[in-house]
Amino acid sequence: MSKAAVLTGLMQPLEIRDDVEVEAPHANELKIRMAASGVCHSDLSMQNGTMMAATPIVLGHEGAGVIEEIGPGVTGFEVGDHIVISWVPQCGTCFFCTRGQGYLCENSNAALATGGLLDGTTRMTSNGAPLFQMAASGTFGETTIIPASGAVKIPKDFDLKLGALIGCGVLTGAGAALNTARIAKGDTVAVVGCGGVGLNVIQGARIAGAGEIIAVDMAETKLQMAKEFGATATVNAGQGDPVSQVMTMTGERGADVAFEVIGLQQTIDQVITMTRRGGQAILVGVPKMDAMVNIPAFFGLVLQEKTIKGCWYGSSNVQRDVPRLIELYKSGQLKLDELVSRTIKLDQVNEAFDAMQTGEVARSVIVY
Ligand code: APR
Ligand code: ZN
Ligand code: ZN
Repeated sequence: MSKAAVLTGLMQPLEIRDDVEVEAPHANELKIRMAASGVCHSDLSMQNGTMMAATPIVLGHEGAGVIEEIGPGVTGFEVGDHIVISWVPQCGTCFFCTRGQGYLCENSNAALATGGLLDGTTRMTSNGAPLFQMAASGTFGETTIIPASGAVKIPKDFDLKLGALIGCGVLTGAGAALNTARIAKGDTVAVVGCGGVGLNVIQGARIAGAGEIIAVDMAETKLQMAKEFGATATVNAGQGDPVSQVMTMTGERGADVAFEVIGLQQTIDQVITMTRRGGQAILVGVPKMDAMVNIPAFFGLVLQEKTIKGCWYGSSNVQRDVPRLIELYKSGQLKLDELVSRTIKLDQVNEAFDAMQTGEVARSVIVY
């Protein structure tokens, strides 16, 4: 029997169940004893319907833990290995993986869409019924089963709490800056939304050598954090139009690269508008499924030669990028400890959802 936080339906608080049965891992799977899980906005997006979820489901996708059991056919891992979970398992052999775009791995699509593992089925039951697992993982539980291609080995002396954060917020945010946008030295960057993911876009931009980094948020506490993470200027979006403020700061030209890291139609529009001619607007936040990008084709795009680019999982090659991020942390360039606003128990996960919505925290991290 294992404990997990379960979403039973739209807008329902998560139920803490302690009767969860976790099967042995099937072929090419690993059983993980979870050490830590971050609470990311995408978890909340499943609860409030921004993202679709099959229920009942164990939420959580930003996690790290220790391998407890190894399924048939798995190579390269041993019981006791410490791992970060990649919520896009990257098979390494499909069309996308072999072209350096493992973040689009076609073998992980079914898992993300169905709430199961790679074959669409799940390994957990509670109260006699199967539980789905968010993003081929389900990290809001003491134990989970993941595809082996969704595990990235990390050194045993690395703090698993920080490892968990690497699994989504850091890979996504820093990756958006370093991989998706390929920011050039001296670029002027704007980041709209400075939560757990946006702060990592900011530090990714700093690491890439951006000149100016303009942080935009509505919460003063987030703008203060943004400065610690590398922002050179801040804009409070609650005080006046953020687009005109960014335009003023960039000599009315706009930013070379602007990131949307919230997932709102309004801020997506803002980010596209504040991108300069020839610049890139990078859309990182996950919007409602019916949100649209509406821009005039000629005046907004052709004449402007703007690039609007989606960003999925920071365009990360997880086996390459997780060790790289750990090295950046060890050399003092990447901040991780500062992302942990609160350390909580699994039972407090609903409070963590509340704290995220009031903008109080960058990340609450569940420690098991
Ligand atoms: N203008 C500016 N900032 C805003 C606005 C707005 N209209 N609305 C919200 N914000 C800020 C919040 O104050 C908060 O700091 O956006 C930030 C969002 O941060 P989090 O809630 O911590 O979300 P995060 O986990 O960073 O995820 C951001 O990326 O992975 C996706 O699904 C995730 O879409 C979500 C996005
Ligand atoms: Zn996430
Ligand atoms: Zn693949």
